[in-house]
Amino acid sequence: MTQDELKALVAQAALAYVVPGTVVGVGTGSTVDHFIDALASMKDRIVGAVSSSDRSTERLRARGINVVDASSVERLAVYIDGADEIDHDGNMIKGGGAALTREKIVADLANDFICIADASKLVPVLGKFPLPVEVIPMAATQLARRFQRIGGQPTLRDGVVTDNGCHILDVRGLQITDPLASEIEINQWPGVVTVGIFARHRASVCLLGTSEGVKTMR
Ligand code: 5RP
Repeated sequence: MTQDELKALVAQAALAYVVPGTVVGVGTGSTVDHFIDALASMKDRIVGAVSSSDRSTERLRARGINVVDASSVERLAVYIDGADEIDHDGNMIKGGGAALTREKIVADLANDFICIADASKLVPVLGKFPLPVEVIPMAATQLARRFQRIGGQPTLRDGVVTDNGCHILDVRGLQITDPLASEIEINQWPGVVTVGIFARHRASVCLLGTSEGVKTMR
């Protein structure tokens, strides 16, 4: 199976976690694009979706799914999203699609984060995938220097302006052995909007696409 077919497989499997009669939290990315397509088959059984990006909002609307403002929802049963890397405890690196801030906001509303990914995203230690960090443009250079001081090699993502009008630093060379501590530390550096470590909002369930089918990791 191709990587795209594996993504479609887990996207379909994620429908089992959607609670009928509720609003669903929806992430961003190519795996989520498949999920949105699958969700359309049950659009009349859900109230709608809270979206984590303009990209997902557009796709949801195109599939006839009601998009609900995050501020009108107190809690979500589930948030369904992809990841760039996942460790065996469900900690993730996210932000490859530059939507990490809104993804974390919507994930924070949800009781459960259901991660959908092809199995190549599973790693023993986070950090091979360059860590995305959304930053206030004014602080980008001083934050890049700060990442260099802890052994990272940051690059500014060329030409990218996020949905929030900010920039993305991609930081290579970090071995994230304590994801929670790193998330808390980096997130309080002045100028950081959101670091792409999802440990406080780690996945409750990971659906991993393999050539033998969907593997569920809890
Ligand atoms: C977007 C994300 C995505 O979930 C992540 O990049 C995975 O994307 P894909 O499903 O295309 O592999 O964090 O900001």
